[in-house]
Amino acid sequence: MQFRSLGGLKVPVIGMGSASSSGFDVESEEGLRNCREILDNCLAHGCSFLDTSPMYRRAEGVIGGGISGRRDLFQLATKVWCSGAGTGRAQIANSFSLLGTDYIDVLQIHNLVDWRTHLPYLERLRDEGRIGLIGVSHYQPPFYGELAAVMRTGRVDVIQVPYSLLEREAEQELLPLAEELGVGVIVMRPLVKGAVVSGLKRQPDMGPLREWGLETWGQAALAWILADARVSTLIPATSRPQRIAENAAAGSVTLPPEMRGYIEREAQRCL
Ligand SMILES: NC(=O)c1ccc[n+]([C@@H]2O[C@H](COP(=O)([O-])OP(=O)(O)OC[C@H]3O[C@@H](n4cnc5c(N)ncnc54)[C@H](OP(=O)(O)O)[C@@H]3O)[C@@H](O)[C@H]2O)c1
Repeated sequence: MQFRSLGGLKVPVIGMGSASSSGFDVESEEGLRNCREILDNCLAHGCSFLDTSPMYRRAEGVIGGGISGRRDLFQLATKVWCSGAGTGRAQIANSFSLLGTDYIDVLQIHNLVDWRTHLPYLERLRDEGRIGLIGVSHYQPPFYGELAAVMRTGRVDVIQVPYSLLEREAEQELLPLAEELGVGVIVMRPLVKGAVVSGLKRQPDMGPLREWGLETWGQAALAWILADARVSTLIPATSRPQRIAENAAAGSVTLPPEMRGYIEREAQRCL
């Protein structure tokens, strides 16, 4: 697993997401066991950076239970996703409680919701050493202008945006700006909810990619994103423990530009 700086925090290039489509919105014993296995595999394969949010229903609590007793082995990113100062403070307090920690590595403002209200409080939490980094996220290109404006205030350390073979809008303004300002980049939705693999109309030729240690098209799609040095970490989500090893393996690959081009051409031919 390779590591990069996320606004000064050392993170593995492959982390893990926990949106509701993943296996983390569960309450059954079987579901919780599955999540525990996913988290065990994250540690075994070096994907120790976990992203969550109050939006993802039970995910914060499930992660908190799953990392109990080993919190220091993970880096945690969560979000505030509500309007109003008081509601925001209560939601953040609840995140600390659900995650079972007194320190959150990255606290992001989810979808820019009421960011002007939340930002001063996040700055206070950072000054007090209760959180490490302040982030902002959005998943829709029409909001990227506002995201860029928040970045230009110099008050955020990290952004979280989609970037993948099928969603490249971040290349226009956000990635160059992040590089210029030294803002870390968390890539959400790196597999476009799995569509980069499930949407294949024909099979890509993996032959040339195997020489670089890429065995599956999912790994190729992740390695393609990581070949952009402006990206700090990717957070693919999964409900299947065995996928962690597969996705983590992409984090050991350094692709040269010509192989990045090859993956792009195969994506155009097959997707
Ligand atoms: N606004 C926001 O801030 C925002 C918005 C969207 C997402 N996010 C964050 O980004 C994370 C990732 O996004 P996402 O969950 O929407 O999508 P994603 O990570 O692009 O894709 C997840 C889907 O891909 C499948 N998958 C995982 N590894 C695979 C592989 N190697 N080959 C084929 N399929 C694979 C999973 O299915 P299986 O379960 O079958 O493995 C799952 O359905 C979220 O969990 C969340 O933390 C944030």
